[in-house]
Amino acid sequence: MSEFKLAVQRFDPLTDAKPRLAEYTVPMREGMTVLDALLYARDYLDHSIALRFSCRQASCGSCGMKINGRPRLACYTQVEELGGEKVVAQPLDNFAIVKDLVTDLESFFTKHKQLMPYVLRSDAQELDHPTAEYLMKPEELKKVLQFTYCIKCGLCTSACPTVAMDVKFPGPQAMAQAYRYLMDERDEGGEKRLEALDTAHGVWRCHFAGSCSFVCPKGVDPALGIQLLRRHVLSGKAPRKQGEGAKVWSAPAGSTK
Ligand code: FES
Repeated sequence: MSEFKLAVQRFDPLTDAKPRLAEYTVPMREGMTVLDALLYARDYLDHSIALRFSCRQASCGSCGMKINGRPRLACYTQVEELGGEKVVAQPLDNFAIVKDLVTDLESFFTKHKQLMPYVLRSDAQELDHPTAEYLMKPEELKKVLQFTYCIKCGLCTSACPTVAMDVKFPGPQAMAQAYRYLMDERDEGGEKRLEALDTAHGVWRCHFAGSCSFVCPKGVDPALGIQLLRRHVLSGKAPRKQGEGAKVWSAPAGSTK
């Protein structure tokens, strides 16, 4: 059976002065992912390796890490596709390290929440206690569909040079989701989102490096979303104001209409 070397960055901020790479020898098997290799190392070679994962199918976004220098999902990266003799797993850049490969995502989700990633309506009563489903037309969905594929893995944020320089910059993930809801025909919160984005640390800080879009494992193009947000900020106009959100409803359950 062939083997390969797996180097894992080890670092516990509570006890270690600096990170180090620990090397493990892992038996190769067909279709093995980097997550499989890490779990082999943790289960059979060193129980103290810290890593985060859940779905093992590129859906939950938990297993984001830097693999051979590039942000990737460990469960979606096969060892074979990396070529070479060695796999190097390190925590995502631009996040504080909790331990080894586990990073602190708190500020990431705080920024996401600050840009209101949900439908905002003036008819709050209906929003909180809907009498039917809000439906979108296929042509409306098309405008936002690619942005809905975000799994919040943090890879784009890790790859972003502006996030590295400016802790107040919301980052590509949060901004792409702001665009997704801005363009949702049912949403009426565009003015609030554009106001939050038109700051020295907002849309204008993006250098359009495009690395966010390059590393996204789900094919989302956050760099495009940010550029399109700029267009709306410049025009000073949200696509819809309060009370102008589309009212496309499904028939209430049991209705014959
Ligand atoms: Fe869920 Fe990898 S474990 S995305």
